[in-house]
Amino acid sequence: VVRSVVTGVGAYLPPQIVTNEDLSKIVDTSDEWIVERTGIRQRHKAADDQAVSDLAVEAARQALERAGKSPADVDLIIVATTTPDLTFPATAAIVQRKLGAGVGIAFDVQAVCSGFVYALSVADGFIARGNAKCALVIGAEAMTRLMDWTDRGTCVLFGDGAGAVVLEPGEGQGTTADRGMLGFALRADGTKQDLLYVDGGPSTTGTVGKLRMLGNQVFKHAVINISEAIHAAAEKAGVTVPEVDWFIPHQANQRILQGVANRCGIDEDKVISTVALHANTSAASIPLAFAHGVADGRIKPGDLLLLEAMGGGLTWGACVLRL
Ligand code: ACO
Repeated sequence: VVRSVVTGVGAYLPPQIVTNEDLSKIVDTSDEWIVERTGIRQRHKAADDQAVSDLAVEAARQALERAGKSPADVDLIIVATTTPDLTFPATAAIVQRKLGAGVGIAFDVQAVCSGFVYALSVADGFIARGNAKCALVIGAEAMTRLMDWTDRGTCVLFGDGAGAVVLEPGEGQGTTADRGMLGFALRADGTKQDLLYVDGGPSTTGTVGKLRMLGNQVFKHAVINISEAIHAAAEKAGVTVPEVDWFIPHQANQRILQGVANRCGIDEDKVISTVALHANTSAASIPLAFAHGVADGRIKPGDLLLLEAMGGGLTWGACVLRL
């Protein structure tokens, strides 16, 4: 089996920063409450004229540059998003056009906050079967567009941004020391829809809708579900949790990150955390944190990485890879 290898990572955050202090002028909240309950200090917000495809293109360009690739090399684009530009076409097709990538495969994956892990596994499958040679996997979101700005329980938690990776075929000779995707564990439980969803859509209300969440119940499921997926992905990869060099979690809440680390016996120094700076950017948060850890020199080629997420659906999952 040909393994897919991450050869470049990129990120983009829109310039406007919204602090907790800014939000305390809109809803009855405080910097103290938000920091204590979530670890979030600020989030980025896309400008009114910035579509998700614009954020995605910026992150994709950076990932391609770092991989030494040009848009013309790209033959597969998958965008994980819950806030597409339009109901159709897929944001991936819009990204293809804006990037100037030639005709190839392009589609979106919708698994909310788990979307990036799901999309990675899909791209890995295309490469493993020889159906793609240079894939862009992008997580891009404008979550602020889905907020009910009168609901302090949700509007303080989310932000906008995009992250991208380039995936290419590696040698893949079958040992766990090889570079590339080593194991995935993906899950969904549709019976838990009411805990976290958007109350609109084209075939029901005909509106975009607003995000609704029972936060404390989501929290409980998150720690248990993510911990199980981490162990399952590690087992599939043939590695143990302590062997992992860096954990790159979906960034929802610092307390969830700590809860998972405690439950799985993960050293907290090995957890890349950007939740204070970016808040929850749904499918974009893992590649944003990945790019952050690479940029500050912590994550290096050859490192064993574990990515994990949980989100609406509920969906959740984890992925082990060697960079
Ligand atoms: N500022 C001040 N007070 C607030 C705020 C706020 N922004 N939001 C809620 N409160 C109040 C509530 O109204 C409630 O007040 P009451 O007791 O008078 O009714 C009180 O704080 C406690 O509310 P809880 O919801 O029980 O607070 P909790 O400690 O559970 O924290 C939070 C809420 C931060 C949402 C937490 O449950 C959480 O992070 N859950 C995970 C949700 C999440 O991250 N979802 C993202 C998508 S899923 C994922 O990515 C994993």
